[in-house]
Amino acid sequence: MKISVTVNGTVKEADVEPRLLLVHLIRENLGMTGTHIGCDTTTCGACTVLLDGQPIKSCTAFAVQANGRQVMTVEGLEKDGKLDPIQEGFFQEHGLQCGFCTPGMLMTGFALLKKNASPSEADIRWAISGNLCRCTGYVNIVKSIQHASGARHDT
Ligand code: FES
Ligand code: FES
Repeated sequence: MKISVTVNGTVKEADVEPRLLLVHLIRENLGMTGTHIGCDTTTCGACTVLLDGQPIKSCTAFAVQANGRQVMTVEGLEKDGKLDPIQEGFFQEHGLQCGFCTPGMLMTGFALLKKNASPSEADIRWAISGNLCRCTGYVNIVKSIQHASGARHDT
């Protein structure tokens, strides 16, 4: 099937099998490897991207479902050499160790702050509850999102 997907503001055309997963379109067809694959079973959230502004697990969507729609990946966060506040938050608060979960955490955090500019710690923990991190214990991830919201509190 021929599909046309706007990825990070640029229209991308592709000819794909209907069974192709969105994450494979992004990583293999489009060569954007910032979106990770951790589990392939909708568990870990490493593959999180935004579809029309909503965070989704791209290992659990078909590429054809993105036809005519907007996808934002982690590569779309930085603009003109300037980090998005969510990236700056993770940088300042060291919200990562191995970094494998980080693209998904960034996209989930970005989507949360678009919806709720001043989330509580409970709001943040709820938002990232579908994103697993095996390294950090989550404390610095929460601080990173708080930093990005401009409402950083020591916890
Ligand atoms: S790779 Fe998609 S949720 Fe883990
Ligand atoms: S930093 Fe390693 S999985 Fe989160």
